[in-house]
Amino acid sequence: MKIFHEIAPLRATLRDAGRVVLVPTMGNLHEGHIRLMHDARKHGDKVVATVFVNRLQFRPGEDFDKYPRTLAADAKCLEDAGVEYLFAPSEDVMYPTPQYFHVDVPDQLATILEGEFRPGHFRGVATVVMKLFQIVQPDAALFGKKDYQQMLVLSGLVREFNLPIEVIAGDTIRAEDGLALSSRNGFLSASERQEAPRLHRLLMDLVARIQAGERDFAKLEAVVMDQLRKNGWSPDYVAVRRRADLQVPLGDDPLVVVAAAKLGTTRLIDNVEI
Ligand code: PAJ
Repeated sequence: MKIFHEIAPLRATLRDAGRVVLVPTMGNLHEGHIRLMHDARKHGDKVVATVFVNRLQFRPGEDFDKYPRTLAADAKCLEDAGVEYLFAPSEDVMYPTPQYFHVDVPDQLATILEGEFRPGHFRGVATVVMKLFQIVQPDAALFGKKDYQQMLVLSGLVREFNLPIEVIAGDTIRAEDGLALSSRNGFLSASERQEAPRLHRLLMDLVARIQAGERDFAKLEAVVMDQLRKNGWSPDYVAVRRRADLQVPLGDDPLVVVAAAKLGTTRLIDNVEI
């Protein structure tokens, strides 16, 4: 695997690389990321992974400073996964001057759910991914459904700016007990790690009740919030939404239940398609 820290040599190498598939990450890679790399392999000739902890998508007081940076271990994982190229830019390469231009994410996506609790987050995500798209100029890009709202934001970005990139959504990879894999799971204490799969279990219970015909979504959401609180969590939201745009469902649209909750100081998110 070739590692690039600068833009020009990466671009020169990719010029005749055939069909290029991009998988952006913030590093501290786990099996969920690696599965995206294996999926990527099926969609092109060369896989480009990126590792960059993007300051723009963190709010003051969030975990930017303590976000784990493990580039040597990440490079080893990517090499083992058969990734051809790793782009790991410094802050100076990505943001040589303050970033004055931003991608303006529409309110109906940017200010709901994750966006309500992390204002400006998706603007930061969309802006860095737009930059990565311009740097790498991939034919396809993979994003995980674990970050369901992010995946919709980035699909919308590609569609509305007519970018010639195929967006592919990867399934959420979980630990055996159901906990969605995340770099932030490493912040959990041993007892929190034992408690953490409750989030997914409660979402699965809610899904089962909807599949059994229950339609009072507000009540079902409240039951999950309540159960989380009773077990020491601080939930931000639990919401049954339309899969297509995360708006409140009206008719028979395909649904997804999305949730975010803090366990101790660690904020976990999850979702299940219904
Ligand atoms: P990061 O959290 O490192 O995730 C990188 C990619 O891996 C994202 O597309 C995310 O959805 C996916 N992913 C993470 N955990 C997963 C899991 N358990 N199963 C499946 N996919 C999973 O998301 C980001 O970084 C950043 O916001 C980024 C898009 C790189 C922009 O900075």
